[in-house]
Amino acid sequence: MEQYAIKGGNPLVGEVEIGGAKNAALPILAAAIMTDETVLIENVPDVRDTNALLQAMESIGVIVERLDRHTVKINGSQIHAHVIEDDLIKKIRASYYLIGALLGKYKEAEVVLPGGCNIGSRPIDQHIKGWKALGTKVDIAHGLISAKAESLKGSHIYMDVVSVGATINVMMAAAMAEGQTIIENAAKEPHVVDLANFLNSMGANIKGAGTDVIRIKGVSKLHKTEYTIIPDQIEAGTFMFAAAVTKGDVTVKNVIPKHLESITAKLIEIGCEVEESDDAVRVVASKPLMHTHVKTLPYPGFPTDMQPQIAVALGLSQGTSIVTESIFENRFRYVDELTRMGANIKVEGNTAIINGVNKYTGASVNAPDLRAGAALVMAALAAEGFSVIEEIHYIQRGYEDFELKLQSLGAHIEKVESEREIQKFKLKVG
Ligand code: UD1
Repeated sequence: MEQYAIKGGNPLVGEVEIGGAKNAALPILAAAIMTDETVLIENVPDVRDTNALLQAMESIGVIVERLDRHTVKINGSQIHAHVIEDDLIKKIRASYYLIGALLGKYKEAEVVLPGGCNIGSRPIDQHIKGWKALGTKVDIAHGLISAKAESLKGSHIYMDVVSVGATINVMMAAAMAEGQTIIENAAKEPHVVDLANFLNSMGANIKGAGTDVIRIKGVSKLHKTEYTIIPDQIEAGTFMFAAAVTKGDVTVKNVIPKHLESITAKLIEIGCEVEESDDAVRVVASKPLMHTHVKTLPYPGFPTDMQPQIAVALGLSQGTSIVTESIFENRFRYVDELTRMGANIKVEGNTAIINGVNKYTGASVNAPDLRAGAALVMAALAAEGFSVIEEIHYIQRGYEDFELKLQSLGAHIEKVESEREIQKFKLKVG
């Protein structure tokens, strides 16, 4: 099993290019099958989740052609089945975006129930509520969700919770429904907007994405397009906080600074300097980090996907910080691992009370999920001595070339597969 061997203590310094947003790429790749014409998508991150989705799409006859590492051509004209049972797809949450896409195009879909990161129960009642409102019969049996409609009819849908997945899934189906759909209490995340822009470039008529109310006038056909996916807000935020915890100076390039506002604000609060330009953000951490409080919220609030990373920084900040997780119920599973590196954190329900310590010390720890895994890497980079991070397949779900990008910033990190390789790494970096 692959692991990361890390020797901490080096400030990260330099520039890093941010890739395409995983959480935008997944719905966009799925939605690309909604036309029979060929769609070209650029800036697709080469990570496990996008690759698993593309493989599942190929299993039903979608033609996927990779022009280069980040550019794919997708043609959905040869789809021969609307049932997706591919084993890989069970592991990724976004498998259910194929339901919205197939339902919109063919009015039927059957897909294995989604997996994804173990960060708490992840109901899909709002997706189902939305599809049903459009006239779909939805059944769950034998681990499959099946959705079938005689025809899809536009509807007025009020989401009971702000859900990225449900907003996206209903938007896709409604794009090809008859008449108008209004989604109220919609998610406003940049990837929701990116999907709407993508669908509009295929001929859909979607207005209001990025606000609480999305209005969709259904069209009967979508057409080819060429589209570039937005930069990854969370990858960028992770490198920004990595600069903070290692007392570094990192410029994250190819970003949309507006998408990073809540992250930037917290970095400034804890004592970092942040310089913004058109498509880059520089984080300089020259002073001791200060405590703060943070509560995760839907966009434009502080993202839940950055919660473990900010906690790692607050663990090294002077004073007591409180982190409140309001989106997922089980997102503090990394705390025990971080405690083994010397952090002083007490979890009570959805709150973590963090008493800052002067330093972390290297340890062997397990990545419990994607973002927490990245956060533990950050902690190891800041720590004194060696660490080994296990279960890095979680990290590879959403970070492309994570270790290579960190190396380019001066980090001592290597992907290893055996005790021998760990020893070799230790000898090399001293
Ligand atoms: C997406 C992101 C994930 C991010 C999350 C919140 C992808 C592939 N994943 O996940 O990285 O952490 O947004 O920004 O884009 N809920 C319901 N019923 C539903 C759907 C959701 O109660 O039908 C609840 C969830 O349990 C959670 C909250 O709504 O408490 C938000 O979840 P949601 O926005 O749907 O997250 P995902 O789309 O799964």
